[in-house]
Amino acid sequence: MVTIRKNFGVLLAAGLLAVTAQAAPAAEAVQIERQSWPFAGFFGTFDRAQLQRGYQVYTEVCASCHELKRIHYRNLAQEGGPEFPADAVAALAAAAEVQDGPNDEGKMFKRPGRLSDPLPTLYANEQEARSIHNGAYPPDLSLMARARNAENVAPWFIHPFLMLRDIAVGYQEGGADYLHALLTGYEETPPEGVEVMEGMNYNTAFPGHQIAMVNPFGGGDGQVTYADGTRPTVENYARDVAAFLSWTADPRLEERKRIGWMVILYLVITAGLLYAGKKRLWSRLGGH
Ligand code: HEC
Repeated sequence: MVTIRKNFGVLLAAGLLAVTAQAAPAAEAVQIERQSWPFAGFFGTFDRAQLQRGYQVYTEVCASCHELKRIHYRNLAQEGGPEFPADAVAALAAAAEVQDGPNDEGKMFKRPGRLSDPLPTLYANEQEARSIHNGAYPPDLSLMARARNAENVAPWFIHPFLMLRDIAVGYQEGGADYLHALLTGYEETPPEGVEVMEGMNYNTAFPGHQIAMVNPFGGGDGQVTYADGTRPTVENYARDVAAFLSWTADPRLEERKRIGWMVILYLVITAGLLYAGKKRLWSRLGGH
């Protein structure tokens, strides 16, 4: 009996230790400013116009170095995304040259793109990409908004036993906040005493602060021309492309939220019916 209790104590201590160790904030956490996003929260949905602008920024600025392998032309027209008109997307696809094959003679051939094709790719493999970019690898951006996060202090219910500690955790829109911070975080002159390595650029949001990617918005405000009257500023470019990449990383966000609400409604109605049924049954049995 004693040994069991002792072991339990050890287990509990080990468990607590594990929780504390895991929850300890990273030594050199980078402060990322929280932004407000239209797709945040229970009712949040993507802003179509913003996603369309983000796609424009992506194609005009990022697509010369980065790929979006998981996105197909048809996704650009589908519900819950930028919802470009289907005929415009079909024309866009048709303008692309896609390698297909082999044909009856065993040869590969080029044909106009179709809605079912992925967006154009740039590199045959990672090695090729690195050899073009001085050894650095511009990662595929499809899931980037999910692969990165920002740190936030956990709400009290996540750490009820450790109320006095600040525990850093990720959050739903952390990826978008990080992308926005990264794209607006370039500084021409690094802080005093910091030496930027050859071929690197100083960035306030990037872990370690030295990134191989040059500032994609080095052209400053006006680098991209928006057709819908949105102000052409680096701030807006960064925000719009971060929103667009949040959609590529989670194209079913809207559908998921809608289904969530339907399930809650269903549960509320079912609870009401069960309660009414229970009252009827007991009124007959007990005569109350
Ligand atoms: C000139 C080529 C080039 C352009 C243009 C470019 N990038 Fe990059 N990007 C890179 C390279 C190279 C890296 C790898 C950096 C490293 O590992 O230090 C990178 C890395 C990244 C990362 C990963 C950062 C991380 O946390 O690991 C993100 C996100 C990113 N780029 C987004 C973008 C977006 C969005 C655009 C368009 C607005 C863009 N890039 C335009 C070359 C480019």
